[in-house]
Amino acid sequence: MRNPRSLVKFFLSTVTLISVTGAQAVPAEGQKMMVAGPSPLSADIVRDISSKGGNVIDATVAVGLALAVTTPYYAGLGGGGFALVKVKDKPVEVIDFREVAPKASTPTMYSEDKSKSSVDGGLAVGVPGVPAGLWDLHKKYGKLPWKTLVQPALKLAREGFLVSGEWVENTSENYERFSAGGKAVFFKNGKPLVPGDRLKQPKLAKALELLAAKGAKGFYEGAVAADIAKSVQASGGIITTEDMKNYKTRWLKPIQTQFLGFTIHLMPPPSSGGVVIKSALALTEKLKVTEKPPLSIDELHGLSEVLKMSFRGRDQLGDPDFAKNPIAQLTSEQYLQTLASQFKWNRASMLEPIKESDPLLAQPEESAETTHFSILDQTGNSVALTVTLNGDYGSGVVSSDFGIALNNEMDDFTTNPGQPNMFGLIQGKANEVAPGKRPLSSMSPTLVEKDGQIVMSLGSPGGPRIISSVFQVLYRVLSSKFDIDQAIQAPRVHHQFQPPMVFTDAKKLSPDVILALRARGHKVEEIRNVAKVYGVRKNEKGWLEAAFDSRGEGGAGGH
Ligand code: DON
Repeated sequence: MRNPRSLVKFFLSTVTLISVTGAQAVPAEGQKMMVAGPSPLSADIVRDISSKGGNVIDATVAVGLALAVTTPYYAGLGGGGFALVKVKDKPVEVIDFREVAPKASTPTMYSEDKSKSSVDGGLAVGVPGVPAGLWDLHKKYGKLPWKTLVQPALKLAREGFLVSGEWVENTSENYERFSAGGKAVFFKNGKPLVPGDRLKQPKLAKALELLAAKGAKGFYEGAVAADIAKSVQASGGIITTEDMKNYKTRWLKPIQTQFLGFTIHLMPPPSSGGVVIKSALALTEKLKVTEKPPLSIDELHGLSEVLKMSFRGRDQLGDPDFAKNPIAQLTSEQYLQTLASQFKWNRASMLEPIKESDPLLAQPEESAETTHFSILDQTGNSVALTVTLNGDYGSGVVSSDFGIALNNEMDDFTTNPGQPNMFGLIQGKANEVAPGKRPLSSMSPTLVEKDGQIVMSLGSPGGPRIISSVFQVLYRVLSSKFDIDQAIQAPRVHHQFQPPMVFTDAKKLSPDVILALRARGHKVEEIRNVAKVYGVRKNEKGWLEAAFDSRGEGGAGGH
């Protein structure tokens, strides 16, 4: 499925941004600036912004806003996210624009009264962070005028876009969960759209106009903020206009690690991704998994064990403003060695959860439904940005005046201690609800540096499977020496410690491999929804190579 590039150029010169063209084959290669993301439109937008003299930050803002229009089930203005950012000679930075718990929230708000839901309805909604995140990125590093960056999204909202099969499936299966506002915006007289129908969102266009004119204040103050507070409260929630006005992003330092001569920049708490991936990469070297042939039974057993061991400490983590986060301990030589000593090549290990009395935690310190896109330019400037509403269409609440789909990120907190959440994760005390706190995440935008330059940018949606997927794509490129497309499409395993089982990509591994893993004592379940990875890397020829995951829709391109 390789589209001749001349054809793409021809289309670009003759059609507007809202046409569904310009998606390139996987992997797509370019020289200046490339993107991989969940929609072919991202490639058109990146090429357009870059041609106007925009940098990776400008491209990020324009793509982020456009995805809020075309993939509202996971990338809306009503969600939150993280980005790892490398601009010019600055060190890699992290912007955290995750949702925060409203001021009136309490640790027991879901566990005391089981009728209160952290998944459906207004009480599930955290204060959204996406508009503030994109605005703060623009203020710090943007080159082009803000209004220029809002323009592609505005055009898509006003003039509409052609809905895809994925859009129709994600939307129609959530019909019952939608508030009246959502049913009005995403259905035609109560009937689902079909692929190829055009969806216009005039209400969302009004919100984007305010955002274009006033920046983040156009969302967090005035009519949009009032609409969000009113719609959330009408669905049983507690967000106020004061919560909206008080929302702030924060800048953090990434977690760093070395792997096979590369410096890997990883997402810190409030994501658990960086801690788990750092541990998993170290264990692959310690256990010499790296010496096993790619995709062999030994290697897949080793990767499953490494993930199980690395996920074990996840429940100790939480928002760094509230929790102690024993990162140094969980990635220490001593702890990794204790885990490694449990490893056997012929048998799955049995590990107990970390107890509050574990001496590990007493050790002193030695010295953090979704989508992702990555952009990388020739000089190594890059953004890896993951954004989410948590579940598909989040809480199902869609603001009535502006048609903004609102997250259910509150479910990422420890809502019912000891009980698994929608991703099967049993969460810890460090992640209990508190006003102004951000819930623990698995989102793992990641950048890879070699000789002082960023050479790879990647990330993924998919709850805890994000972590195992990003880890394995990193591993496949850096250790197995796959190209970015081979690495992304390769079969993956997932283990998150609890439940104690290995999940594998359905229909991607031979039944013999599954049987062999079972023979080593693993409980194995084949699943269809392994996380989808999007990535761009600079290859050995100096070309920028971008690929999206064929497990879902996507686009990769640029110029
Ligand atoms: O932050 C997290 O870890 C979750 N809210 C992510 C949810 C997700 O990736 C669902 N995507 N398919």
